[in-house]
Amino acid sequence: MIPADFYRGRRLRNSLALREMVRENQVTANDLIMPYFVVETEDESFKKEISSMPGQYQLSLKQLRKTVGEAVADGLKACILFGIPAEKDEMASGAYDDAGIVQKAIRMLKDKWPDLIVIADTCLCEYTSHGHCGIVKNEYVQNDPTLNLLAKAAVAQARAGANMVAPSDMMDGRVAAIREALDEEGFINTPIMSYAVKYASAFYGPFREAAESAPKFGDRKTYQMDPPNGREAMREAAADLEEGADILMVKPGLPYLDVIRQVRDNFDTPVAAYQVSGEYSMIKAAAQNGWIDEMGVVMESLVAFKRAGADLILTYFTEDVLKVLK
Ligand code: PBG
Repeated sequence: MIPADFYRGRRLRNSLALREMVRENQVTANDLIMPYFVVETEDESFKKEISSMPGQYQLSLKQLRKTVGEAVADGLKACILFGIPAEKDEMASGAYDDAGIVQKAIRMLKDKWPDLIVIADTCLCEYTSHGHCGIVKNEYVQNDPTLNLLAKAAVAQARAGANMVAPSDMMDGRVAAIREALDEEGFINTPIMSYAVKYASAFYGPFREAAESAPKFGDRKTYQMDPPNGREAMREAAADLEEGADILMVKPGLPYLDVIRQVRDNFDTPVAAYQVSGEYSMIKAAAQNGWIDEMGVVMESLVAFKRAGADLILTYFTEDVLKVLK
């Protein structure tokens, strides 16, 4: 028996053209931010694949320039830089040295592509000998003494020409400290994209190989958020907004879509989502085994961020997606 009256959802699904007309969300080149790992090295040809992230590389300045050139030709709008210094020390000197590797990379990229949005990840863990995101005393990461160094790093990045700084350390008060230091130095128009809601996640594993930033002892659980907590994310986001954040980021991505949605609904700033290294590696590994259709899964995962309310997406798939969008 066929009832007389029922909902025919299939009517609007019967052709690609119709489906595209009624599509609620889409990923565009304007949404995507590509992370790059730049290494301080004399060897200009240095390009080393990260074993846990197939298709991602540690790059010398020259190789970075080549890679970014190709991506810009494909429509790249924005990238975020992580630096791997030749020397690490207790005070993370490379993070705020005007001649530090990220500062050099920013200058090079902005010189070559003035319209490219170059974002600097502001953190100390790639630069400290112990791999923690702050100054360590008695095996504890010291909050307040770290703020000054983060502010110095942000100022050095802005001075090099960064379009935006992105503090990822999760120290309390760092957005306020960075905003104040940037303003004092005249960088009133340099936005802060805060890793406002950053969880202590097992999904960062491959990144720590890429950035050579795994903590030498302990973990990051005293500063990054506890994964079971959702309400607390609203406090973190509110605090960062109050302190002067311009864009709020949630990280990792797919396992925290609920949190992205809550941030979207509670705040009216742009929201960014970081599809982190472990998320990338899982998709790559399954695809390499022939178990999933890589670009199908990638596009579906990225549009999920848009559906959850994210405006911007940081993803290692950016270059591949730009090719598809072209
Ligand atoms: C630095 C930083 C990390 C990531 C971005 N910035 C690593 C961490 O907190 O250990 C992770 C990115 C990724 O996994 O792709 N603090």
